[in-house]
Amino acid sequence: LQTLPPLQLARKYFELFSEQKDPIWQSPCDDRRHKDIWSRDKTCDRLPKFLVVGPQKTGTTALYLFLLMHPYIMSNFPNPKTFEEVQFFSGNYYHKGIDWYMNFFPYPSNTSSDFLFEKSANYFSSEEVPKRVAALLPRAKIITILIDPSDRAYSWYQHQRSHEDPTALKFSFYEVISAHNKASSQLKLLQRKCLVPGWYAAHIERWLTYFPPSQLLIIDGQHLRSEPALIMEEVQRFLGVSPRYNYSEALTFNPQKGFWCQLLDSGKTKCLGKNKGRKYPTMDLESRTFLSHYYRDHNIELSKVLHRLGQPLPSWLRQVLQEVR
Ligand code: A3P
Repeated sequence: LQTLPPLQLARKYFELFSEQKDPIWQSPCDDRRHKDIWSRDKTCDRLPKFLVVGPQKTGTTALYLFLLMHPYIMSNFPNPKTFEEVQFFSGNYYHKGIDWYMNFFPYPSNTSSDFLFEKSANYFSSEEVPKRVAALLPRAKIITILIDPSDRAYSWYQHQRSHEDPTALKFSFYEVISAHNKASSQLKLLQRKCLVPGWYAAHIERWLTYFPPSQLLIIDGQHLRSEPALIMEEVQRFLGVSPRYNYSEALTFNPQKGFWCQLLDSGKTKCLGKNKGRKYPTMDLESRTFLSHYYRDHNIELSKVLHRLGQPLPSWLRQVLQEVR
């Protein structure tokens, strides 16, 4: 029997099985043999029990803040490179492995009552994320928030402008959403990032190929914005967290901000920063009309998915569907 030296052998291996170059991390604690050879110092308790997956601009930060108000719910330490989110499953960080990921989480003091979670808003629409999450965290619960995809696209565009994205500053919203195939690659990229997360049905179907419906919670973002205490009750029920935290007493509507905020013990309120709940002009009619055509079929598909799951349609979706009739 002949064999190559280790490095050459590895090269040969990946030449033969190139599809395995992209690793997929499974939980070492789900297989006895893996657990037995794992270091004694390591634990699977430092992995999240649930994920808030986005999409961006639907109210994910508000949900994140509200969740953290619960004494038994904890999130990861911030990632300085990605504006606080870990974004482990969606990018190259994934190749850093599960130790890298676990180091972002505290050791829970009580593994059954404590709930660790991560919020990375770009997970929702990513091709590879559901498969990766299902491999490492097969029992994790997944929370997504949906608002009218046209409003989401507009909010996202405004977000890019305030971060001084040169393409978003150069082109109007209408120019971005209606850009043609011959447009510059930067404009087409911005357009994709603006519009594709709003293909809600397609993304949800992808999550459902890896997770049973009972592990997926779809929140109406408009409802989260108008009646957060009610939604937080639903979220707590879905997670099975106990004791329940009384959000009706802990949240207060701030008329200046125009949003619900945390009521602190001191009597002061803590709202999200200026970059959440931004002030910008309402969407122009031309863009609104363009987007309602653009998202028509996606929204119809979404209503079918929700119907199949036995979930009520969000009010914005009912309204949108009435308009397309
Ligand atoms: P706008 O800034 O466009 O109004 P995300 O955190 O996912 O990026 O979402 C940001 C959006 O959350 C905001 O978009 C805002 O409309 C919405 N939102 C919902 N509830 C909020 C709250 N209590 N405080 C601030 N923004 C909230």
